[in-house]
Amino acid sequence: MTPQERITELREQLHKHNYNYYVKHNPEISDFEFDKLLKELQDLENQYPEFFDPSSPTQRVGSDLSENFTQEKHEYPMLSLANSYSLEDLKDFDARVRKLVGERDFTYTCELKYDGVSISLQYKNGKLTRALTRGDGIQGDNITNNAKTIGTIPLQLHGNYPQELEIRGEVVMPRAGFNALNEERIEQGDQPFANPRNAASGSLKLQSSKEVARRPLQANMYYIPSDTPTDSHYENLSLARSWGFNVPDLSERCKTIDDVYAYINKWDTKRKDLPFDTDGIVIKVDSISLQEELGMTAKTPRWAIAYKFKAEQARTKLLSVDFQVGRQGTITPVANLEPVLLAGTIIKRASLYNADQMKALDIRINDYVYIEKGGEIIPKVVSIDVNARDEHSQPLSFITHCPECGAELVRMEDEANFYCPNSKNCPPQIKGKIEHFVGREAMDIALAGATIEQLYNAHLLKNAADLYTLTYQDVIHLERFADKSAQNLIDSIQASKKVPFHRVLYAIGIRHIGKTSAKILAKKFKSIDAIQNASLDELKETEDVGETIAISIQKFFNDDDNLAFIQKLKDNGVQFVEEEKAEAQTSILEGKSIVISGTFQQHSRDEMKELIERNGGKNVSGVSKSTSFLLAGEGIGPSKLEKAQSFGIQILSEDEFYAMIGLGTTQEIPATKESQKKDNDSQQLSLF
Ligand code: IVH
Repeated sequence: MTPQERITELREQLHKHNYNYYVKHNPEISDFEFDKLLKELQDLENQYPEFFDPSSPTQRVGSDLSENFTQEKHEYPMLSLANSYSLEDLKDFDARVRKLVGERDFTYTCELKYDGVSISLQYKNGKLTRALTRGDGIQGDNITNNAKTIGTIPLQLHGNYPQELEIRGEVVMPRAGFNALNEERIEQGDQPFANPRNAASGSLKLQSSKEVARRPLQANMYYIPSDTPTDSHYENLSLARSWGFNVPDLSERCKTIDDVYAYINKWDTKRKDLPFDTDGIVIKVDSISLQEELGMTAKTPRWAIAYKFKAEQARTKLLSVDFQVGRQGTITPVANLEPVLLAGTIIKRASLYNADQMKALDIRINDYVYIEKGGEIIPKVVSIDVNARDEHSQPLSFITHCPECGAELVRMEDEANFYCPNSKNCPPQIKGKIEHFVGREAMDIALAGATIEQLYNAHLLKNAADLYTLTYQDVIHLERFADKSAQNLIDSIQASKKVPFHRVLYAIGIRHIGKTSAKILAKKFKSIDAIQNASLDELKETEDVGETIAISIQKFFNDDDNLAFIQKLKDNGVQFVEEEKAEAQTSILEGKSIVISGTFQQHSRDEMKELIERNGGKNVSGVSKSTSFLLAGEGIGPSKLEKAQSFGIQILSEDEFYAMIGLGTTQEIPATKESQKKDNDSQQLSLF
């Protein structure tokens, strides 16, 4: 057998095993054997890059290359559904449908409404060619590389599939995986996700597909907008299952609206046993030709409707109220409850939001309260069973002093929250600020909440700037630290000095400055000094920065302790200047859109992209008629090459590209990947 034949054989086998495992839940081989086959294929593909195939099972592992999602137009617009909340609404829907259908016989298909993120997959000749998010329904983000890492999304279809196929579904994160992921995040000091839907959506938009591959995602398919083999939606989805898609076997065909209601009643409780979240059911006219006849209104089809389940509530007793202090000093009242089961978890605490909400509820100790899970992790108290109230109960008043440091609380005009103004000495505020500072999207220092507590209690940290004077000797003596963990912490702190200025600006925790406003401010003002010296008007004129943020910035810099904090960070080499993105050096590639594919000798793909932009060109993701050049690296797939050839697009080799932009003649030769690594220490100015 030739290596090419073995590669083909392995790919076929692995596609089949993936299908058995993810879709049929019936693996024929052990994980160990699977990994062995995958490793053999990976080795062969490394050895023979000319046989690269973007649909190979090896592509599921993802890569570290940063994804820049391009916006692409949907082949078929992605519609949303009209919502209904009652039997009455459904009867109205049924009446509208029957009026248009007349005497003809028809059925509905009822499905569960999966609570995740919708995705549209395109297949050509059985191979996954594109995955788009919904976006605005007309255009979505191209997230193909991330989608490929999801086991339930087939890269290669089986059986008698249509040559051109567009199929839609919902990417969900099953609850078990979600809980494990959140536990891991909490352990690492990262903010846990509020719910599986947010976790799924955050995961799909990650920049590293390797990271996405680690997220426990699943795709449940529910709709085929392209031409289908049969006139029945239900049959088409059954066929889609045979092509390798994961179509949950939970739908039913219903003749009447009463049958639909029976389906709703059945799943209202039974859905809790499903491994993933659902938030309703979707009722669809089953016949595709009737669907076409019924058509659509401005935004939603007339042949389908969603019915939303009512949020689950539980009734329990209020034992006491705690007042929590956040990192900005905000006081949040939290109800301590008699433990109660709600949507699969035992709840002991629920949010009471703020003073206004507490007052509006007129909540009292020993009241029986109703709680509900919203979008947040912690459930909320939504109402009180006033009839069950003890007649001697007394209204609760909001606290006047900080429960942690005793400072008198203040409340800003127009703000719903009270807060503790003693930001410098109030322990939860200090620890909270450090926790924010080290967060993944801020300085990304590997420091868990419990360790911050430990360092704070040992008087080693008074604020985040103290991290930079922390030594190995300081840390190694602490409980639970060993040689490796102590060194890792010090290394991680050192590495954070390279974090770009906009993230530092977010990390230092100026009230009201989030990730986006930090980016905008860094781009406009370029340095912390310029922000500090900016007038209120200059700040206010900045996009997305209103009066509140502008005032907050000036207040921050009017405080000597804050200035000392910034100075200490500066003295220790933290970045307070935004690195200039060099302007295009030439306009050689002006107006040209260039597709990059494969890997290159001299530069990473990101560097190639930068080179294109610096010479006035635009990097685009897919080969189309309007592509100017295809920049072909090693291991480029034959389909891309063929497509480029069929459109008559010029294909450039790496060297031809360098020659085109005059590298080595009119431009300084940029650092190669290797030389760049060496140059980092010597701070030599290079192109990247
Ligand atoms: S059908 C034209 N079926 O709900 C019909 N949608 O509110 C397209 N969803 O954007 C949608 N489960 O993300 C359909 N079984 C299901 C669904 C479902 C979840 C989501 C989908 C859509 C949203 C509409």
